[in-house]
Amino acid sequence: MKVSKICCIGAGYVGGPTMAVIADKNRDIQVTVVDINKDRIAAWNDEDLNNLPVFEPGLDEVVGRARGKNLFFSTEVDKAIDEAHMIFISVNTPTKTYGKGKNMAADLKYVELCARQIASVAKTDKIVVEKSTLPVRTAEAIKTILYNTGNGVNFQILSNPEFLAEGTAITDLEHADRVLIGGDETPEGQEAIQALVDIYAAWLPKERILTTNVWSSELSKLTANAFLAQRVSSINAISELCEATGANVNEVARAIGMDSRIGPKFLKASVGFGGSCFQKDILNLVYIAKSLGLEAVADYWEQVIIMNDHQKIRFAEKIVSTLFNTVSGKKIAFLGWAFKKDTNDTRESAAIYVADRLIDEQAQICVFDPKVSSKQMIDDLNYLQSRDRKSNQNHLNVVGDPYEACKDAHAIAILTEWDEFKEYDWQRIYENMNKPAFVFDGRMILDGEKMKEIGFKYYVIGSEY
Ligand code: NAD
Ligand code: UGA
Repeated sequence: MKVSKICCIGAGYVGGPTMAVIADKNRDIQVTVVDINKDRIAAWNDEDLNNLPVFEPGLDEVVGRARGKNLFFSTEVDKAIDEAHMIFISVNTPTKTYGKGKNMAADLKYVELCARQIASVAKTDKIVVEKSTLPVRTAEAIKTILYNTGNGVNFQILSNPEFLAEGTAITDLEHADRVLIGGDETPEGQEAIQALVDIYAAWLPKERILTTNVWSSELSKLTANAFLAQRVSSINAISELCEATGANVNEVARAIGMDSRIGPKFLKASVGFGGSCFQKDILNLVYIAKSLGLEAVADYWEQVIIMNDHQKIRFAEKIVSTLFNTVSGKKIAFLGWAFKKDTNDTRESAAIYVADRLIDEQAQICVFDPKVSSKQMIDDLNYLQSRDRKSNQNHLNVVGDPYEACKDAHAIAILTEWDEFKEYDWQRIYENMNKPAFVFDGRMILDGEKMKEIGFKYYVIGSEY
């Protein structure tokens, strides 16, 4: 079966970039990305490519090449579903905030709504692709909804989880280590798999396109994120040990990473991992294990989250204890708010939790981030519901200039590893700070020796202070 029209429901961090690359590489396929969020769609259609709703290096060029030719962004969900041969579901699957599985299970209401909408609109056979990250066996529920429409339409359900990381989405998509496609072992299932394989084969070598059954594909996505997050928590656990013993976590990471069985990537100690997925997906894995009565499995993976929470709080507490056990009324400058560099995404960013803890201690926080808006930062703090909006606003000031952020500060905390932070005139920053001038480098990006030469009291995650 040759697919000539694709619809993707959900124009977020995954739907937007993924479909832009699919369209760019398959000029004979019409790709329409739809969303119920009108502002988001308007931003995807903005003439000025600097205003796209997702900031990703290289995304503007890809969208610029395909948009208006074979790539479209629209709010007309029904129309796009009706016309498409293949429909990707790429909506959000956040952690549930209510009812059974609260704070653990994935909330599948948006996915289910999509399935119901497809069921009610479709008049011709469709391949439905799960792009969202979903608990193992979700395809079963989608199938049940679709198969009970009674309108004679045939559906094939595929699982095609996305492995891109934010900040490197375009490179990750264009040079994917692998693409995973799960489908039924029936002839119709295999035909659907082949239709999706053909789309990716337009730019990826065939040996990188893995096909499995649906359940393996769904579970592999949760497992990949759990393993990645586990590496960060493992090295962060060692970072605390390094600080207590005089070992240096970078040296330890290098030494272990040269063992080809361990490998060098994803061993960078930090103030803690953030992002919309690691925590959500591990909690989901823990929930599934618990639901199946696998307590030891659940406890094992839960430790990855416990360690990450500890790392964020430990960093905040280090700031307080170092500043003579009080930050009340003191200005603390934050460089960075995004959960990693090269993205404007702040979901679950460590910066939010560190700020929250310091505001509990009545600190005055002043933030500079090259890509995150002040509204977003206040919304992030409010989301924690630790205090009212007004108090948050009184304690969190956002400025558009890093030197202003650091002026008269008692301490600077580096929360995101933006490259530009390394290039700042640190001598000038030092001169304009309260003394002693402290820097807490939660991302290990500055040259510690140089900082000490200038006069800073420099603390970095993972080495003796
Ligand atoms: P997102 O919140 O950025 O985007 C989801 C979009 O879906 C939103 O714009 C929302 O308005 C839209 N939506 C929700 N319900 C809808 C409906 N019924 N009809 C039309 N539109 C609807 O989320 P995201 O970061 O793109 O993540 C999407 C999925 O991909 C999640 O399951 C996530 O776990 C997974 N994932 C994310 C990443 C990442 O880097 N962000 C990477 C891999 C996988
Ligand atoms: C992660 C995975 O890397 C992707 O493969 C996956 O598709 C995605 O989750 C998802 O499912 O959403 P992402 O969260 O965008 O991607 O970014 P990462 O590069 O994985 O970083 C996650 C967090 O870990 C960041 O806060 C980062 O700073 C931190 N990190 C990462 C470290 O602290 N140390 C490291 O060595 C690596």
